[in-house]
Amino acid sequence: MDIKHISSLPKPNSATLYAFMVTGQNRKELEKMARENLDENIEIDKSYCEEDVKNFHFTNNIKVLFLGAGEEGQPEAEDLRMGIHAIINQTNDLKISRLVIVSMDGEGKNAASLRDIAETCVLSNYQFLTYKTDPRKKENSLKKISIYSTDKGAANLVKEGYLTGTVTTIARDLVNEPVITLTAVELANRAEKLGKEFGFEVEVFNKKKIESLKMGGLLAVNFGSPLPPTFTIMEWKPKGAKNKKPIVLVGKGVVYDTGGLSLKPTGNSMDFMKSDMAGAAAVIGTLCGAGALNLPYHIIGLVPATDNRPGQNAYTPGDVIRMYDGTTVEVLNTDAEGRMILADALAYAKKYDPEITIDLATLTGAAVIAVGTLGIAMMSNASEEQKNKLKTAGFAVYERLVELPLWKEYKDQLKSDIADLKNIGGRNAGSITAGKFLEHFTDYPWIHLDIAGPAFLHGAEGYRGKNGTGTGVRLLLNFIENY
Ligand code: BES
Ligand code: ZN
Ligand code: ZN
Repeated sequence: MDIKHISSLPKPNSATLYAFMVTGQNRKELEKMARENLDENIEIDKSYCEEDVKNFHFTNNIKVLFLGAGEEGQPEAEDLRMGIHAIINQTNDLKISRLVIVSMDGEGKNAASLRDIAETCVLSNYQFLTYKTDPRKKENSLKKISIYSTDKGAANLVKEGYLTGTVTTIARDLVNEPVITLTAVELANRAEKLGKEFGFEVEVFNKKKIESLKMGGLLAVNFGSPLPPTFTIMEWKPKGAKNKKPIVLVGKGVVYDTGGLSLKPTGNSMDFMKSDMAGAAAVIGTLCGAGALNLPYHIIGLVPATDNRPGQNAYTPGDVIRMYDGTTVEVLNTDAEGRMILADALAYAKKYDPEITIDLATLTGAAVIAVGTLGIAMMSNASEEQKNKLKTAGFAVYERLVELPLWKEYKDQLKSDIADLKNIGGRNAGSITAGKFLEHFTDYPWIHLDIAGPAFLHGAEGYRGKNGTGTGVRLLLNFIENY
């Protein structure tokens, strides 16, 4: 899709929908401007302030939509995003191909909004049509969006929004891709391809290399699979990077989770487990974003990847696995596989002496129970300052973090009779014991994000859409940009 900034309004025509964005300014002025710019004799509904999105006008084939953002009680930015989402939906419902968004704000908040507007346009108009025989039949009508603003720097802000939206859809594409295509090897291949496109370095460890490194957790989860695991290392290192020690991002890359021998029950619990690599997708998307925005920070991304299946050689409840860092783990549930592969990646991350490591994982059903699709469960041993920075980014992009404690007593739930740890901690505090397990493999400031709820949606939720959401990409990019 084509999204561009414009500084003069095109002549109205029947194939265009005009949307006037108003954020907290004098609405009389808006009306005046609308009349001046659309030199047709259009009627403007006086009730648009209250009715927002509902107020379409069809006069002389010009479609004008008024949207007021900034309701009380909700962050203005999110109102704006949801408003844009409504506009995009309506444009497609009306089978219109071109949208002109006129962004105006008497209070000068426009600049910050422009990026959000462009980003949300990309996210809202996103579709995954790879497997439709005739995608044109299903394609959205909307093909071209022009964002009008006279603000200084507007063109750049629109471009940045377009880029952050686009790299988020890269993560969505990866999540939506089924395992028949997106194997661990293919995930690594895609990372390599994206590295070339966005300018970051990619190194892929194959099974032989993973064996020689003795990444026992990753190898154990892979035992039941006919396909090999991969371990992908991505690096964005711009000249003159502002951080001496890197920011390390780790993403769970379980390309499909059957539960292994501790098979997930039928019903629908397995239907969407192609999304169990959403953490990996977020890390890959973020590296793309770092390249696209040319972020002045040194960033490393690690993605351990495999599927988890009950094959003949599958790892077994009762098995004791020696992990990459030498820790022994008694496996009492093969469905707690994410922590097995992440543990090896987190231990591997030590070699970078990271300033901060953030892992993202669709790790526990308990996180979905706790915060649903609206929040990310966060656990951390990092400083309040570091945690607060990420929480602030969470509010800004509306991927909000809910912190759970990592009190030392929780680790008692992971005591094993015969090994150093067991891989499950019982029903109570399931997300936290998973976090405690991961913590064991870190020796640096670390933040764990359990994205099991928001990573994949079973029904559309605004601009986050249905299916893969790309959760984590906008969060991490915002965090790093303000680092
Ligand atoms: N991938 C699942 C977690 C999950 C559940 C993600 C629902 C998204 C939606 C993970 O590997 C898993 O199976 N976790 C188990 C852990 C348990 C066996 C300790 C869980 O949460 O039930
Ligand atoms: Zn599992
Ligand atoms: Zn899993």
